[in-house]
Amino acid sequence: MQTILITGANRGIGLAMTEAAVARGDRVIATARKPGEAEKLNALASLTGKIEIEPLDVGSEASCAALANRLEGRGIDLLVANAGQLNAYGKIDDPAHTEDAWRDVLMVNVFGPFATVRALLPMIERGAEKKIAIVSSIMASTEQAPGGAYAYRASKAAATNLARNLAADFAEKGIAVGAYHPGWVRTDMGGSSADIDVAESAAGLLKRFDALTMSTTGVFEDYQGVPIPY
Ligand SMILES: NC(=O)c1ccc[n+]([C@@H]2O[C@H](COP(=O)([O-])OP(=O)(O)OC[C@H]3O[C@@H](n4cnc5c(N)ncnc54)[C@H](OP(=O)(O)O)[C@@H]3O)[C@@H](O)[C@H]2O)c1
Repeated sequence: MQTILITGANRGIGLAMTEAAVARGDRVIATARKPGEAEKLNALASLTGKIEIEPLDVGSEASCAALANRLEGRGIDLLVANAGQLNAYGKIDDPAHTEDAWRDVLMVNVFGPFATVRALLPMIERGAEKKIAIVSSIMASTEQAPGGAYAYRASKAAATNLARNLAADFAEKGIAVGAYHPGWVRTDMGGSSADIDVAESAAGLLKRFDALTMSTTGVFEDYQGVPIPY
């Protein structure tokens, strides 16, 4: 039984990973920006008794520090930095590529994992498994760059780069770090015509996190274990 902390656990892939993890016997610290509005997560917590729900806005250093204070002295085996945003899909003429949209996406998708890891590092060091999974995207790939969604692609490229550099720095602490593409998944972000459902993505991701060790630290792969080119 592991203790897994999952950010953005109130809907989409984060909620599905929470459900899959408790179904196999793990305990989950599930974070949400607005726990009071997280109806499905609250229902799952009542049903299973294995989920603690904590408020967290990953784009806020103060929110990350407050969570760290509440969890002081605890151990976290696996931190899953899942919370993310995509707010502009188009090409150069897409008016959604505003200054605010760029700021939001970079803050949530890049600063978010960084701030979460930094705040929770003492708890991860205290955990038995010592693992960090950053949910990135195939859209991070520089080798496979079809264009468009510039802010999101840049943010996920940076998040993957962050995972690689954390893997290097945390090697001496025995903490393994990986970056993962969850597949193209039917969620609010992925849309209804995506390839797979959240349950398939979550099951695959949990298996990949299980497979993460110090000998594979720095990995960038999809939910089926297929390597993604940087
Ligand atoms: N779906 C796909 O096809 C796909 C493909 C590749 C990668 N991904 C990545 O997979 C992860 C999950 O995506 P999803 O499809 O499940 O997206 P989603 O359904 O849009 O859910 C996004 C989650 O992130 C949370 N979030 C957003 N901003 C936040 C913040 N500032 N602080 C804390 N939580 C925040 C949301 O909370 P609220 O409810 O409060 O907004 C929600 O729980 C993301 O990192 C995404 O980039 C998804």
